[in-house]
Amino acid sequence: MGHEGKSGEKSRREFLAGSMGAIAAAKLGSKLMRIDSGEGALSAAAKGAASSASRGLAPTAASRLLAPTAASPHRIIIDTDPGVDDALAILLALRSPELQVEAITPVAGNVPLEFTLPNALKLVEIAGRTDVPVAAGARHPLVRRLITGEHVHGNNGLAGVDFPEPKIKPVAETATEIIRRIVRANPGEISIVAVGPLTNVALALRADPDLAGKLRSIVIMGGSLSGGNVTPAAEFNLYVDPEAARIVFDAGVPLTMVGLDVTRKVLFTEDRLKVMETAKNPSGVAAGRIMRATLERLNRGPHPMIEAMHDPLTVANLIDPGILTLKDYYVEVETEGEFTAGQTLGYSYAPARGSAPMATAEKQDGTGVLATDADFKANTKVAVEVDPERFFKLLLGRLTA
Ligand code: BDR
Ligand code: CA
Repeated sequence: MGHEGKSGEKSRREFLAGSMGAIAAAKLGSKLMRIDSGEGALSAAAKGAASSASRGLAPTAASRLLAPTAASPHRIIIDTDPGVDDALAILLALRSPELQVEAITPVAGNVPLEFTLPNALKLVEIAGRTDVPVAAGARHPLVRRLITGEHVHGNNGLAGVDFPEPKIKPVAETATEIIRRIVRANPGEISIVAVGPLTNVALALRADPDLAGKLRSIVIMGGSLSGGNVTPAAEFNLYVDPEAARIVFDAGVPLTMVGLDVTRKVLFTEDRLKVMETAKNPSGVAAGRIMRATLERLNRGPHPMIEAMHDPLTVANLIDPGILTLKDYYVEVETEGEFTAGQTLGYSYAPARGSAPMATAEKQDGTGVLATDADFKANTKVAVEVDPERFFKLLLGRLTA
């Protein structure tokens, strides 16, 4: 349960050098795409993946992104900091047959690990899914002091709602260990759905340079191309551990970024709460209690807030890919700005270009000429549009069923 390590010596580019993932992903095309949930939209790539598999070939990044079939559930590890919206995301995933949750790996974020870990255990018990292992993750970001969000999530991370203490325990493996073991045993099969700070995921990628090539994808709730929610620049998960985020975005794994650009558009209102409170099953009842307490807390202060369903939206799009529209970007994470650390910058046609060197800087190699747009390669599918009604129909339907 201890802090799993400090920032490593490997340069961010070394992660890219070992993998062709980003390049293959870029070849999927850089146009705005809605990944249709129907079989037809998957056909070419999925058939290619199937035929590669039958010939014993390693899956490409393209086939890893587009491999789901109606028959086999998408196998995921949920990396999370529960957290009010994390709790709903976990319950949604556990109640959705399209997803097979292989493990849950809590990390410090919304509240310290002392809460996120037992919260995850409580949630699997509430859902009747104690078959899902819960493995303790990092207590702190890679190099920064932990910043938490009790003002949104309550002191215990579940809006102050007192659920019974969990009877089950976390498994002996750490988050890093369980991620590595499951992914290595199932190459090309597992996606990490990361809805908290990216510390655990970065630690796993850093500990095992081959891991990036064995993941099917990483689906991230975090970042924003339209301003932050903690600072004008940064979204909370990226703000808490920008260095970890940078490792993950540079790893060459097929990435999906579900950021504030879309999550701010799925707002949990009183009307939706009333529907949730009709639930009779323990997961739906728990979700209703958490959200009732959250809305009461958030509306008490001088600046009423409406809770956005950041993390459930991220899970929902794996169940129904018609909820989000994705677009190819090269996403860079700012780690050095005094006021902008954790900002995500999306390049849609030009290669990533850092700031120009100071005139007083020692002359570096190179000519000082800008790289051309022809050098553009995407590393992330960024969610740019959302269908909120379709999302809430799914969320409320699954939690009240
Ligand atoms: C993200 O930060 C957390 O507060 C939420 O759980 C979500 O993962 C939104 O910025
Ligand atoms: Ca979260």
